[in-house]
Amino acid sequence: MAALLEIEDLHVTFATGDGTVNAVNGVSFALEEGETLAIVGESGSGKSQTAYAAMGLLAANGRARGRVRYGGRDLLGLPQRELNRIRAKEIAMIFQDPMTSLNPYMRVSEQMAEVLTLHKGMSRREAVAESVRMLDLVRIPDAKARVHDYPHQFSGGMRQRIMIAMALLCRPKLLIADEPTTALDVTVQAQIMKLLGDIRAELGTAVILITHDLGVVAGFCDRTLVMYGGQIMEEGPTTLLFERPTHPYTLGLLSAVPRIDREDEMLLTIAGDPPDMSRLPPGCPFFPRCAYAVPGNETRRPPLVTLPDGRRRACNLSVEEILARREAMP
Ligand SMILES: Nc1ncnc2c1ncn2[C@@H]1O[C@H](COP(=O)(O)OP(=O)(O)O)[C@@H](O)[C@H]1O
Ligand SMILES: [Mg+2]
Repeated sequence: MAALLEIEDLHVTFATGDGTVNAVNGVSFALEEGETLAIVGESGSGKSQTAYAAMGLLAANGRARGRVRYGGRDLLGLPQRELNRIRAKEIAMIFQDPMTSLNPYMRVSEQMAEVLTLHKGMSRREAVAESVRMLDLVRIPDAKARVHDYPHQFSGGMRQRIMIAMALLCRPKLLIADEPTTALDVTVQAQIMKLLGDIRAELGTAVILITHDLGVVAGFCDRTLVMYGGQIMEEGPTTLLFERPTHPYTLGLLSAVPRIDREDEMLLTIAGDPPDMSRLPPGCPFFPRCAYAVPGNETRRPPLVTLPDGRRRACNLSVEEILARREAMP
C-alpha cells in the first residue's frame, strides 16, 4: 500500500538580505496511515519549515523544491486553491500558541461551526452539535454550555484542547502538531499528550509531532526522526533510537533530557551553538560540535544509510566505532 505522505529530497531556502538560508537540505521520509512520527532536534534545525513547506505555508521569502506526495499528487506543484482544500479537510496543523488558530473575538461555537458549514455543508444547528461532540472528545468539561464562551474564558491548557478540536473537525487523515505542548507546564503537557494519543486511537489519525523536547516523544511516537542543520541525522523506530542511539547528535540530545529519577536535574546540554544556516559547513553539519569527531572528516558529508535494524543514519563513523568509544567515555 502506498504511504499516506511521502517526502522526497525536500529542500527549503529563504532569501534574506544576509544571503540564502538553507533551512532544509534534502529531507526524505514517508508516513503510513495512522502512524505517529516525531521530528526532533534543537531549535533552528529545520523541523517546522519541513512541515510548512509540505503544506504550502512557507513565508513569502521561502522556496521549496523536491516532492511531497499525498493522495497520489505532489503538493509542491498544486495551485493554492487545491492546497487550501486539502489543508482544510485532510491535513490539519496545530501550533504552540492556540491563539494563532483561534479568533479572540468570536465565540468558540461560531468559529467551530463556521468550519463545518463551510467545508461539510452542515446546517448551523448540526454544526454546533458536532462542535460540542468534538469538545467532548477533547475532554472540555460541560462542553454544551462552554461552546458559547470566548477563547479568553478558557485556561491555556483548555485553549490548546479547543485548538485540537478545531483541527479535528473535518476528521483529517493527518495532524501535524508543531511544539503543541512547549508553552504548557509539565502536568498539562502530559494531559495534552495523553489526549493526542487517545484521539489517534479513536479516529485513526496519523500524527507528525514536531518537538525539541525528546522527553515527550517516548511512549507516543512509533518512529522518531532526528534533524540537525536541516538534515536527517538518524531515523527509526522510537524504542530503537532511545534504547540504542548510534548517532552522536542523538546521543547528545538524549543526555540532555531531564530525568525525573534525578533530584539534581543536571542537564547535559550539547556544547557549542547550532550552525548558521546561511553558512553551513560542507561536511556533516554537526561536525563542529560532535564529541566523536575525527580530524580529517571536516568536509566529508556522510550519506544517509539504511542499517539492517531498520534505522537510517548519516554519520562518518560506523555504529561500532561510536558504541566502542562511548563505552570508553566517562
Ligand atoms: N522567513 C524566514 N526567513 C529566513 N530564515 C528563516 C525564515 N523562516 C525560518 N528561517 C530559518 O530556517 C531555519 C529552520 O527554521 P525552523 O524550521 O523554523 O526550525 P525549528 O527546527 O526550530 O522548527 C532557521 O535557521 C530559521 O532561522
Ligand atoms: Mg519550529
